[in-house]
Amino acid sequence: MHPATTIAEHGAGPDPEACPSSAHDRLGVDRPCQNAQMPPHPVDLAEKLSLFSERWSPKVVARLNDYEIKVVKVEGEFVWHTHADTDELFLVIDGELTIQLRDGNVHLRPGQLFVVPRGIEHCPIAKGEAHAMLIEPVGVVNTGDAGGSLTATYDDSLK
Ligand code: NI
Repeated sequence: MHPATTIAEHGAGPDPEACPSSAHDRLGVDRPCQNAQMPPHPVDLAEKLSLFSERWSPKVVARLNDYEIKVVKVEGEFVWHTHADTDELFLVIDGELTIQLRDGNVHLRPGQLFVVPRGIEHCPIAKGEAHAMLIEPVGVVNTGDAGGSLTATYDDSLK
């Protein structure tokens, strides 16, 4: 929605409804033109999950301020690691996922979530295939400080 003042500022320039990105640039609005975007639509997590099969390779499906919403398929044991600077949210969508912590394990069923506090060592494990949604800041590396072969490439191709 264009506030009336911004429409007035377009003046005799291009039709405000056409909403060229250059007009937005002139106004210093750092976001894409509404008219240039797809109509509003939901992000269907099941559909997104149907588009890939890799395990332990989170895919970005949406962004929220400086955070990203990701979906991931997991199976077997991950690697013990720590994120020194951020908490990490796991919400199980399908299957069962256990978050191993040094103080005990947290078992998650579909519809259940757990937030691993920053600096707390953890290691997800799933006996069978499980699907989960993650919420974490942009730039988080899935293996944290551990690195290694399970470190995923950043992938926002599903966004
Ligand atoms: Ni983690």
